[in-house]
Amino acid sequence: MSFTVRPMEEDDRLPVARVFAKVAEERDGIATEPPVDVEARASRAQLEGSFVAVADGGVIGSLHLVSTSFGYAEIGMHVAKEWRGRGVGSALMEAAIEWSRGQGLHKLALSVFPHNTGAIALYNKFGFVEEGRRVKHMRRQSGELWDLIDMGLLLEEPSAG
Ligand SMILES: CC(C)(COP(=O)(O)OP(=O)(O)OC[C@H]1O[C@@H](n2cnc3c(N)ncnc32)[C@H](O)[C@@H]1OP(=O)(O)O)[C@@H](O)C(=O)NCCC(=O)NCCS
Repeated sequence: MSFTVRPMEEDDRLPVARVFAKVAEERDGIATEPPVDVEARASRAQLEGSFVAVADGGVIGSLHLVSTSFGYAEIGMHVAKEWRGRGVGSALMEAAIEWSRGQGLHKLALSVFPHNTGAIALYNKFGFVEEGRRVKHMRRQSGELWDLIDMGLLLEEPSAG
């Protein structure tokens, strides 16, 4: 089945939060672990800079950019498990990069767990490079301490000075 990517709209709030909550249950790729307050998350989502992937009328993934006043934005993204490996993440990232260029941002940044090889492969494909590693940074509910890799993508050459 095919999918489309478009900017997030008001009616996407709950569906996006529900997919996020499912992904959190995996306790693997994203930092958040259950329980997720779906309604609260839905209501505080920022539509500006957020994109959804939709198939058969339902949300199957999303990406959000949190822009800073320093010219860079932080990315968070997730795709429903049954839709992974089919180009959804790539299509969301393409939309994010295009939007960011349009906004005049010079850089995209994100953090990823070292074991998240699928996500890292996606980011590498778009030119993101590892910029650093925060050691034993995230305490999981299990008590484990996970490293976090910081990655960045420069969208334009830095100007002199
Ligand atoms: C990370 C994630 C968003 C990727 O989305 P996706 O729809 O599976 O990505 P795509 O299908 O567009 O794959 C992009 C590339 O990554 C690579 N890739 C994807 N899954 C992979 C895997 N499990 N192992 C290795 N490489 C993988 C592929 O090489 C693909 O490149 P290609 O198009 O040249 O084949 C998705 O796996 C996800 O939501 N995971 C759980 C939440 C998460 O980890 N979010 C990111 C937190 S930093």
